[in-house]
Amino acid sequence: MGHFLEMRKISKRFNDNMVLSEVDFAADKAQVHAIIGENGAGKSTLMKILSGLFLPDSGEIWMDGEPISIQNPKQAQEHGIAMIYQEIRLFPDLNIAENVFMRREPLRTMRWPRLIDWDQAYRETEKLLQYLGLPLHARAIVKTLTIAQQKFVEMIKALSHDAKIIIMDEPTAALTEQEIELLFKVIKDVKKLGVSIIYISHRIEEIQQIADKVTVLRDGEVTQSALSSELDMTALIQAMVGRQLEDRYPKLKVKHGKEALRVEKLGFNGRIRNISLEVKKGEILGITGLSGSGRRTLAKVLFGIHGPYEGEIHMNGKAFKAMSPHIAKSHGLCYVTGITSEEGLIMNASISENIVLPNLDRVSHAGFLSTGRESEYARDLIDRLEISADEKEIVQSLSGGKQKKVILAKWLFASAKVLIMEEPTAGIDIASKLDIYNIMNELVLSGASIIMISSDLPEIMGMSDRIAVMYNGQIRKTFLKEEATQAGILYFASGGKDT
Ligand SMILES: Nc1ncnc2c1ncn2[C@@H]1O[C@H](COP(=O)(O)OP(=O)(O)OP(=O)(O)O)[C@@H](O)[C@H]1O
Ligand SMILES: [Mg+2]
Repeated sequence: MGHFLEMRKISKRFNDNMVLSEVDFAADKAQVHAIIGENGAGKSTLMKILSGLFLPDSGEIWMDGEPISIQNPKQAQEHGIAMIYQEIRLFPDLNIAENVFMRREPLRTMRWPRLIDWDQAYRETEKLLQYLGLPLHARAIVKTLTIAQQKFVEMIKALSHDAKIIIMDEPTAALTEQEIELLFKVIKDVKKLGVSIIYISHRIEEIQQIADKVTVLRDGEVTQSALSSELDMTALIQAMVGRQLEDRYPKLKVKHGKEALRVEKLGFNGRIRNISLEVKKGEILGITGLSGSGRRTLAKVLFGIHGPYEGEIHMNGKAFKAMSPHIAKSHGLCYVTGITSEEGLIMNASISENIVLPNLDRVSHAGFLSTGRESEYARDLIDRLEISADEKEIVQSLSGGKQKKVILAKWLFASAKVLIMEEPTAGIDIASKLDIYNIMNELVLSGASIIMISSDLPEIMGMSDRIAVMYNGQIRKTFLKEEATQAGILYFASGGKDT
């Protein structure tokens, strides 16, 4: 007993929805305590209570053996609690130090009006960057950083606030293996400072690697809490979903048809070079690579967001020398990205509006929403992805993972012929991933093609027919499903060459 932090019998409801019921949670200094659970289990809510964003209906929070009161984020901060949210909350146009010291600038003593001692701010930021072994400059503008680097900036911000507890909500969604490794190294260094880290994730493999303890939430209740060394993967999955999952990657063998999309010698701005690839009807082509390898740039060039490009894109037997999202969509090419939840969602509109509105030309008939097959399909997607029982629910109130499912449903609804799916299951729980893979199966069965860009190697290996590995803007190697191994992919992703 005598934990550093204890949350006792915490309960919380939103309207009629009991989201947490008498949850006990304890964390200790210099430990990583993981919280896992399916989408909507209540993980973020529990931690938002600890960080003062929500008030619990009942329950107590104890720290260092004494009850404390956390009524708002400021009080949480005074107790040394910092939360790094699922969505990045930095100012993109400011530099690292400015973000770190935002609204809390170190003051030169005895000066008025409040002057910021920027020399000190930069020094401190550089010091923390160095301690964590990050090759970044304190003056680097945040929007030029990768998603992983932005997470590190949030970490440094927490440390500079003298945080004793750092909560990380899904920090690795959309990070590459290499970035995750670096994040884990950073977490270990932060742990050495005596900080208690609370780590929310869906990736069980990760938890076994990084967590000292694990607590599993299911439907707002704790179903398991133990040392991670005492739990194996099967036990964790069972505690999470209440049943065993047989096959995590239910890839179907589908006969491939004619070419759906072909790219010849595609280049853009030096960021991608000389890329040739093709995908057939019914095929899933996986594309992977480390951060900066050009995999996301490739997607944006294909969809016409980046241009002009060198080379040619062929769709439906036609060669395109230029592309725009409009042309792409009108030829049945869709770009599905689930990296950040804000992307493409109208937060204060309902789920069904979010799915149907962007596709209005599909559902409307002479200005009216047709009530036939189309809206039935939308309803069906909401059901099968288990987004919500109520299609009128406002997107804002959905959990992070469910918001991502809405983005996915929106694009699935567009009945694309070629889908570029970027990190389709980032932040989505194991059981829902299966639903998404099954929908991918249905799409290819119906003759669609999928280009899946993912940094989740088991997923890439489990769901692709072929796997293209990118390095430095080029495709270095294309594996058939049967030939691909994790080691092989990493070899080419980090610059290795065929010998
Ligand atoms: N502001 C809110 N208003 C109403 N309901 C909410 C609000 N925030 C969360 N909820 C509901 O509380 C439940 C738990 O959500 P929470 O965000 O804690 O889940 P989570 O475990 O973090 O899931 P995920 O893995 O998808 O991020 C969900 O049913 C969600 O719809
Ligand atoms: Mg969440």
